[in-house]
Amino acid sequence: MKELHFDQFSVLCQEPVPGPDLSGFSGQAAAEALRFHQSLPDYAETPLVSLGCLSAQAQVKAVFVKDESARFGLKAFKGLGGSYCMFRILCERLGLDPAESDYRTFLREDIRQACGGITFVTATDGNHGKGVSWAAKQFGCRARVFMPKGTVEVRRRAIEEAGSATAEITQWNYDRTVQHAASVAERNGWILIQDTAWEGYEKVPAWIIQGYLTLALEALGQMNGLTPTHLFLQAGVGSMAGGIEAFFVNRCREHPPLVSIVEPEEAACVYRSALAGDGLAHPVTGNPVTIMAGLNCGTPCSIVWPVLRDCSSYFCACRDTVTEQGMRAYASPAGNDPAVVSGESGAVTYGLLLSILSSEALRSLFRINRESVILLISTEGDTDPDGYRRVVGG
Ligand SMILES: Cc1ncc(COP(=O)(O)O)c(C=O)c1O
Repeated sequence: MKELHFDQFSVLCQEPVPGPDLSGFSGQAAAEALRFHQSLPDYAETPLVSLGCLSAQAQVKAVFVKDESARFGLKAFKGLGGSYCMFRILCERLGLDPAESDYRTFLREDIRQACGGITFVTATDGNHGKGVSWAAKQFGCRARVFMPKGTVEVRRRAIEEAGSATAEITQWNYDRTVQHAASVAERNGWILIQDTAWEGYEKVPAWIIQGYLTLALEALGQMNGLTPTHLFLQAGVGSMAGGIEAFFVNRCREHPPLVSIVEPEEAACVYRSALAGDGLAHPVTGNPVTIMAGLNCGTPCSIVWPVLRDCSSYFCACRDTVTEQGMRAYASPAGNDPAVVSGESGAVTYGLLLSILSSEALRSLFRINRESVILLISTEGDTDPDGYRRVVGG
């Protein structure tokens, strides 16, 4: 493991090792999630933006960006996980076979009535809670959402407006807020729908992560027959990154992509865990401050930690300035490339990529050349419109 420090970010490099079980996040799991999502009235494939001018300037084969800003009208990818997981939980509760059911099954009067008495509870930095609130409304259920200290009011309100949840800002950091949500669920007999796993709480988050795979399957189908040589994935607890990484490593076994896991330096729990080198996931404690609200999480998700640890080639811990550069560059692209509205947690991988592309030494470190096919996911749009305007202007 080699650690290198640059002006605005640090990088850990390693050779991936084979080993972790990737079967839970296979093409089959992705196909099942996609089939469910396609049955939702609000479903539409999100665009895969090809940055052709940038690719030509940077002398790489392609740079693709999966733009999740319009997913279900929620401005972020997270509704994919909340809705699929809620579907699986409700199927289990109501004795429905998920393979024979989809959203339309839940329009039946008897099933709708049964759903009316069910309350879900979760903790969130914002986007997951919005997805849960929206999904609860689709299924006719209720939801309670808890948010960490420092959350901006606009994000709390967006959760209530997205669906049928009541949302509340607590006095604690993200990890402590998750514990609070778990104990409220237990006390009230409500269902905890959390987008991270720990020992003994794995089935629900595994369904959430499988829900995220819809975006990976869509992206693969939109890449004109290419497969990524490089994947840059941002991580909070790492559920999204680990699931998408497992999907692509599984799918491209002959030539697995080089995966970079990208985090805010203040809350770089995956980076810190990899650096510790003992194979275990380690939390980052305290009250980390970063504008990347969706990535401000202190403990890696236990189910995907082995995937992140063993399959990734690079771990990157970035200053906020990296994502600010990414947000501005997405908004003012090269030549005729389309603009992408990308928020604080969406753009960090792009800011990092642009720094890498502008330096021969970094290109060589990340093994980027004329054959490189680079895939990024802009995981959110302007979920905090004031914050977005402050960075991008206009
Ligand atoms: C916009 C956005 N991107 C990325 C992530 C990171 O996802 P995860 O916590 O699964 O690592 C989040 C998490 O909330 C998010 O909201």
